[in-house]
Amino acid sequence: MPDFSNKVIAITGATGGIGQATAQSIVDAGGSVVLGDLDSEAIDALSSRWGEQATGRVVDVTKAEDNQALIEQALSVFGRLDGLFLNAGIEGRVGAFETQTEADWQRVFAVNIEGPRLGALAALPALQRTGGGSVVMTSSVAGVRGAPNLTPYVTSKHALVGLMRSLAAEWGPKGIRVNTLNPGPVDNRMMRSIEEQSSPEHGNEVKAAFVSRIPLGRYVSNEECAQMATFLLSDESAGVTGNTYMVDGGYCSG
Ligand SMILES: NC(=O)c1ccc[n+]([C@@H]2O[C@H](COP(=O)([O-])OP(=O)(O)OC[C@H]3O[C@@H](n4cnc5c(N)ncnc54)[C@H](O)[C@@H]3O)[C@@H](O)[C@H]2O)c1
Repeated sequence: MPDFSNKVIAITGATGGIGQATAQSIVDAGGSVVLGDLDSEAIDALSSRWGEQATGRVVDVTKAEDNQALIEQALSVFGRLDGLFLNAGIEGRVGAFETQTEADWQRVFAVNIEGPRLGALAALPALQRTGGGSVVMTSSVAGVRGAPNLTPYVTSKHALVGLMRSLAAEWGPKGIRVNTLNPGPVDNRMMRSIEEQSSPEHGNEVKAAFVSRIPLGRYVSNEECAQMATFLLSDESAGVTGNTYMVDGGYCSG
């Protein structure tokens, strides 16, 4: 198990399925977490559950000042920043390309691309002060292959891979590693939303169609994604930067 003693990791989307499981995994490994999300009640509940190993605040990742405040909280409470999990994301509206409005595109890009861009920008000075660190961005299998009826989401997750590769190249000499976690369908809220939007009241049939294309025959779990994120944020992946890490049950193998 990776050792996060004396390490501080900031996490966006920290109260959602993958974010919360990753925060739990880092706390279990002895680390401290700085939780950012829109959901203030969940942040308070998790901060009190994890005691001195956690702090958090309401963060809207589309706002530069909120990203800045998250990093400032890491420095004021724990005195350092070792890693950043840029994980907040939204699925957007499911629908054909020609039905996706300007507002649909702007909202998905604001959260899924502007969010990580602003988060990475805010964290750079703190990571440099630490002497380096690890940045993990949550892309998706939708970041490496297309899918119907999710054009804003798929396009944003591809763009995130471009941001990751560019920052890995720029920040490698500073000792900052940058990678993406690319989950396949995960058994959580986001897939329930995509299933129900795709076929209201017949979400189970949509799920069965997804599962039939996954070699392991099931969705992956929040915890399986968290294990990869934890590895990428830890020193155990010290030689790893600039790449995409699938946790997809083999979805992209075909
Ligand atoms: N669930 C899947 O099947 C799946 C597959 C591939 C990739 N992903 C990606 O994984 C990441 C985490 O999603 P999840 O599966 O845990 O779903 P989730 O909906 O449980 O978690 C997303 C979290 O992001 C937060 N969030 C949304 N907009 C925000 C904003 N503007 N500012 C701050 N926080 C905001 C939400 O409140 C939520 O807690 C996302 O980037 C998602 O695109 C999910």
